[in-house]
Amino acid sequence: MGSPALGRPVEILMLPTQSRGPGAFAHFDLNRVSTPCYVVDEEKIRSNLQTLRDIGNDSGARVLLALKAFSMWSLAGMIEEYLDGCCASGLWEARLAREKNFAPQTKDKILSTFSPAFREEEIKEIISLSDHLIFNSPCAFGFEHARKSDVSLGLRINPELSLGLDPKYDSCAKNSRLGYPLSKLNPDEISKFHGLHFHTLCEQNFEPLFETWQKIEQRLGSMIHQFEWINLGGGHHCTRDDYDRAGLVELISRISEKYDLEVILEPGEAVAFDAGILVGEVLDIMDAEKRHALLDLSATCHAPDVIEAPYRPALSGEITEGGYEYFIGGSSCLTADSFGSYRLPYELHRGSRVAFLDQAHYTMVKTNTFNGVILPSIALWNSKTDELKMIKRFNYEEFVNRLS
Ligand SMILES: Cc1ncc(COP(=O)(O)O)c(C=O)c1O
Repeated sequence: MGSPALGRPVEILMLPTQSRGPGAFAHFDLNRVSTPCYVVDEEKIRSNLQTLRDIGNDSGARVLLALKAFSMWSLAGMIEEYLDGCCASGLWEARLAREKNFAPQTKDKILSTFSPAFREEEIKEIISLSDHLIFNSPCAFGFEHARKSDVSLGLRINPELSLGLDPKYDSCAKNSRLGYPLSKLNPDEISKFHGLHFHTLCEQNFEPLFETWQKIEQRLGSMIHQFEWINLGGGHHCTRDDYDRAGLVELISRISEKYDLEVILEPGEAVAFDAGILVGEVLDIMDAEKRHALLDLSATCHAPDVIEAPYRPALSGEITEGGYEYFIGGSSCLTADSFGSYRLPYELHRGSRVAFLDQAHYTMVKTNTFNGVILPSIALWNSKTDELKMIKRFNYEEFVNRLS
């Protein structure tokens, strides 16, 4: 895949889908919902949450949901049953966490807020809502305000160890603005904070976390004893079948015993991994250089990571050889608004339904109405009971109210 820059095609890294297949969605009749629609399987979310709870119980870690990945508040009650709270990226997510009870203030839950920088008009409210407030540097704006409150103060560090596949998702990439460089951190700065935070992974297995921790431990050594907590961020793909959960549990147990502190994880994707599909309808078929299926879905509006990452989402029922090949395209004007090329064992026609897999995380939280494209409804399905609830439909008002 290439794009023109300085008149030359540039190779763009295409990330692979992590989906393990349709799972229970293989038995879901796509005609049960009007399109476009995200369908989330409550039971798959529950089983992911149970896996995360087990990691928490076996290791002693507190496990938080990263709201930026998945903020489906109709499931907040269930999420709160299993997890220890959530992490927010600023005032609005912090408010959502409290108002929708992802992290009820009345219970022993943690609301941890990190932002690369804070706005003056928001900092007081963020402090009053948060249990942990994490700063991007020891002299970040807001630190002096927070110091006078009883919020627990954290520092995000950049361990300066790049182990990611793609620099776009690697907060240790050269000249990163995310986290204070580990090599610059000195004992005076460390003593100002109750906790340490790092987030460097993206859809990764245990090994890169282990290597990152080794580097931090080598650099900070006994200074780690000063902290009350260490937050290992997100990006741990620990609900994926091949994840080394035993390794993770062992590392967390070792860190908390050795340094007498609480270890925190804040996964997002792992909570909703393989728990949702995006269902669309074919509006037309068009033969250009290749055959296109034109949908009421849009990659750029409904699954922006397809274009941003970029990656090719798995399609339910697709085959690798033979059958019928289609370029499955979105409904906006953007030339690149395409999910990619897919083969199916049957022909598509106007009215056919298709479903992209693993579409619950980093989708609903990122949608937009570019070109006036309709937002997908949100349906909750229970794969055990087969109960289906349409919980949200969007209309023209959503589009018009964001404009003036
Ligand atoms: C600071 C922080 N914590 C947690 C997460 C959640 O990461 P993931 O959804 O990959 O687990 C992110 C994602 O970008 C993040 O930036």
